[in-house]
Amino acid sequence: MRTVLKAAAAFLLMLFAGVQLVRPERANPPAAAGQSLEEQARVPGEVAGVLQRSCMDCHSNRTDWPWYSNVAPVSWFVTDHVKHGRRYLNFSRWGAYSRRDQIDHLNAICAEVKSGSMPLDSYTLIHRSARLTPADVRTLCAWAGEEQRRLATAD
Ligand code: HEC
Repeated sequence: MRTVLKAAAAFLLMLFAGVQLVRPERANPPAAAGQSLEEQARVPGEVAGVLQRSCMDCHSNRTDWPWYSNVAPVSWFVTDHVKHGRRYLNFSRWGAYSRRDQIDHLNAICAEVKSGSMPLDSYTLIHRSARLTPADVRTLCAWAGEEQRRLATAD
């Protein structure tokens, strides 16, 4: 029995070491100057604070990669979330979106945080401070509404 356990432990250890060889790329691509949300939109400090704390790791090119994002298999999930998050919505490329897309994104931002879909649960499980309070949700939705109206009336 002991030998079986030892062999199983050795196998798992080797497997763990082996999967470390599959290293997804963890990159923060350079952001084009002048294209970020902060530079393109009106973002009050309070809103910027909430976005930074709860969204930017997955929705910008300024990801703060945690140490465990180096450790497979966690690294695979983390890099996948960041890759997908950026593809759907990248605040570092806000200026590259059409006005129509910006309005749609602002709508989606409020809807996602109101429904509790964002930030992802797997993220807030570890990043506890990224959890949104009801006040944070109200702040984001009020700002998203205001920004949409500004865009709709801007020429
Ligand atoms: C851990 C990574 C992560 C964090 C943190 C995160 N998101 Fe996301 N977000 C994603 C991923 C991945 C998607 C792609 C769609 C999906 O998987 O649901 C996404 C999609 C979205 C979308 C597009 C939804 C759609 O279908 O149009 C919006 C809007 C969004 N997120 C807003 C936010 C906001 C606002 C925050 C912060 C309050 C946030 N997200 C935090 C990973 C994240």
